[in-house]
Formats: sequence, C-alpha cells, structure tokens
Amino acid sequence: MEKIVSLAKRRGFVYQGSEIYGGLAGTYDYAPLGVALKNNLKNIWWRRFVLDREDMYGFDAAILMNAKVWESSGHVGGFADPVVECSKCRARFRADHLDNEELCPTCGGALGSVQEFNMMFETKVGASSVEDNQAISYLRPETAQGMFVNFKNILDTFHPKLPFGLAQIGKAFRNEIAPRDFLFRTREFEQMEIEYFVRPNDWEVAFQELRAEILAYLSDIGLKTRSLHELEVPEGERAHYSKRTIDVEFDYPFGQKELCGLAYRTDYDLQAHQTGSQVDLTFFDEGSKERFLPHVIEPSLGVDRLVLAVLCDAYTEDEMGGESRAYFKFSRAVAPVKAAVFPLLKNKPELVAKARAVYEELKKVVPQIMWDDNGNIGKRYRRQDEIGTPSCITIDFDTLSDNTVTIRDRDTGSQSRVAIDSLPALIAG
Ligand code: GAP
Repeated sequence: MEKIVSLAKRRGFVYQGSEIYGGLAGTYDYAPLGVALKNNLKNIWWRRFVLDREDMYGFDAAILMNAKVWESSGHVGGFADPVVECSKCRARFRADHLDNEELCPTCGGALGSVQEFNMMFETKVGASSVEDNQAISYLRPETAQGMFVNFKNILDTFHPKLPFGLAQIGKAFRNEIAPRDFLFRTREFEQMEIEYFVRPNDWEVAFQELRAEILAYLSDIGLKTRSLHELEVPEGERAHYSKRTIDVEFDYPFGQKELCGLAYRTDYDLQAHQTGSQVDLTFFDEGSKERFLPHVIEPSLGVDRLVLAVLCDAYTEDEMGGESRAYFKFSRAVAPVKAAVFPLLKNKPELVAKARAVYEELKKVVPQIMWDDNGNIGKRYRRQDEIGTPSCITIDFDTLSDNTVTIRDRDTGSQSRVAIDSLPALIAG
C-alpha cells in the first residue's frame, strides 16, 4: 500500500489534502493524472449506464438541501456510527473497528461507553445567528436523496414509463470517525448512483439486471474478476432503508473490503418524502390506471474507492532489460495518458518539427496524449511506464522519408514500425 501511495503522489495522481498546512484527515486532492484517471472511470460509467440506455436520465442535484429532506430520509435520526472515547488521552475510535472495546489502542487507557455519532456535516445557511435552527443544513452524505426529492419533477417534465432510472455523479460528505486506508475511507468523496424506479413486483428482475451491469462495468475498466467478490449483506447489517443488499468487495492490500453496493430500497424513500413533504409522489400507470409508489433498486459506487481499486489492481513490479520497474499496468480505456510522443533526438530541429506535427495531429483525435523530449529514450520509457502509458511513439530519421514511426508496448517492451495514419486506431482507449 505504501508503495502505491508513494508512486501515486510522486507521479502526480493524488496528494494529501491541505498538505502544506499539515493536511486535513480524510481529504485528498486529485492531481492532473488522478483527475484524468477518475474522469475516465466516470465517463465509462456514464456511457454504460446513461448514454447507452433509453431508460436512464442524468441528474445533478444541489449538495445543500432543506434539512427536512434529511429528517424524512432518516439520516438525522439514524445515520450514525458507534464511537468510544479514551478517558486518558481523549482519542475517539469507531467502536465496531476495535478488537478490544475496553482499552485505548493508542495509550492503553480505559475506554468510555459506546455513543452514537451522527456522521452528517452540519452547516448554517445564510447570515443566521448561531442559535437559529431554521438555518441548519447538511452536506449530503449520499447523492441519492437529491434524486428522490425530484421524482415528481421528472414525472411532470419527462413523463417516463416504468422502469426508469435517475443517475448522478457527485460529491458526498461523511464525518467519518476514523478515516483511513488512503482513498478508501475519506470524509469527502464522490459517488456514482442510480435510483432505478420499478413496479413493486418487478424489483427482482431489475435487481439482477443491474447486478450484472455493475460486474460488466467493473470488467470494462479492467479490474480482474478474481479480485472481486459479491457478498449478500445479512439482515442486521443492511442500511435502514434496504430489504436486500449485495456488496461487491475488492481485494485491497489491507483486506477484502466493500467497493460498491446494490440495494433494494423498496418505496422507503418516496414514502418518507411523501409523508414529510405532504406532496403526492405516486406514479399513475396509464395502462392499468393504477396509482402507486414505485420501488427502487440502487447501484451505488464510490469513485474514490474505485480509483484506489484500479491503482492497486494495476500496480505491477517486474524486470525489463535487466532493470526492475514498478508501474501502473492500466487498461487502455482507463489509462490517463494513452500514448507519449517523442522525437528520437532533441537537438535535431527537423526531427522535433516532424514529431510536433505528429503530436499535434494525433492530439486532435486522441486528446489524452503527452509530449516528452526530456532525457534519453530509456528514461522517457521508464517515466511513461510508471504512469501507465500503454504506448510510446518515437519519430526518427526514417519517419522523415516514409511517414512511419516506432511504437513501443508498455507491458512487453516490444517495438514495431507502423504508419502514422494508423496511430489513432492503435492508441485510442
Ligand atoms: N446511497 C447509498 C449509499 O450511500 P453506502 O454503502 O453508504 O450507500 C455507497 O455508500 C458507496 O459509497 C460505498 O460502496 C463506497 O463505495 C462509497 N463510500 C461510502 N463511504 C465512503 C467513504 N467514507 N469514503 C469513500 N467512499 C465511501
């Protein structure tokens, strides 16, 4: 894990949040390569779950919502983790993460009784006085509620037939008692969620369809099937709204842990908001002339946990040309840089001019490419290998006469001669 965190930092994927001030626990900043990787994961998800389907609507709700949303949804009352405090050093721990609930793991002092700690970040809206409860709002702990409270708006503007889904990618915030394991458990993270509305009797069909789609997506982005495990979450451990949950767990270096979940939320949320808002949220079925609250299947995926899974899955150590190397063996689809373009020699103007022309033309078709003319070719290969660039393209003296280039493969180091015209098809993800 340390090697992955350090390579991710050194090569510009992820930095600690607020680092120059000593950091802020549970926050991370995505550097240029991390942003590119994350955007690829989000775009592939959006493509599969929204653009390629006729039954999904994209959504982007506000992070701040009326506090009544969270009262109705059950988060104000019940979105809590158990916390214990050490009577000696005052450190606080998540009770269900401790091996010994009596003794402080830091100083050995006695731990107090278990308390419930609500994980929502509370904030005040407007220039209100500190005591003004009307002004309380929360940073959303899940993107889901923004879609539930807009259910009626979608019915009124798009008149969808069942089943249909709302899909959203956005930030969520949880005041985790013990953020840890790099991007795995943070206080600010991103979710990709779908609320898929179905007739109550059709939930199982939709559940199985979305279950297969999640696995297909995880395979699309190159995660190895053997590192993924489905887990049926037992009744006592499911969220308050769920009647069935399957988690997909991933083999992280620190253990097999939840990557994403699929929940059958029944009509829990629509019912709760209908009661809380006194607005009719029923769906009228033109065919059967029935009015009812649809049920919901929800695939929910944490983007940061996914970035971490992809980094862990791709991290590779091997030997090439008698030298050991450590690099990210990303699939072409998720690699932040699809190819790097170099002139063989930096001090030959005709080579540099030709290489720039190839780079600029290629960039119009495949924007995620990089120019590199620093150091010798061997060093450039090593740099590109580290960040997971699948192909390196070298412009040499033959290119000037025959418009062919050398393309080198990251995984095998093998090189072949190809026409410039064939490059877009060879390097596109
Ligand atoms: N709307 C359902 C929901 O939020 P959840 O299981 O609490 O369900 C869904 O969260 C996903 O969000 C998780 O599977 C995980 O990928 C991600 N997630 C949750 N808490 C997180 C945290 N503290 N840091 C990073 N990702 C987190």
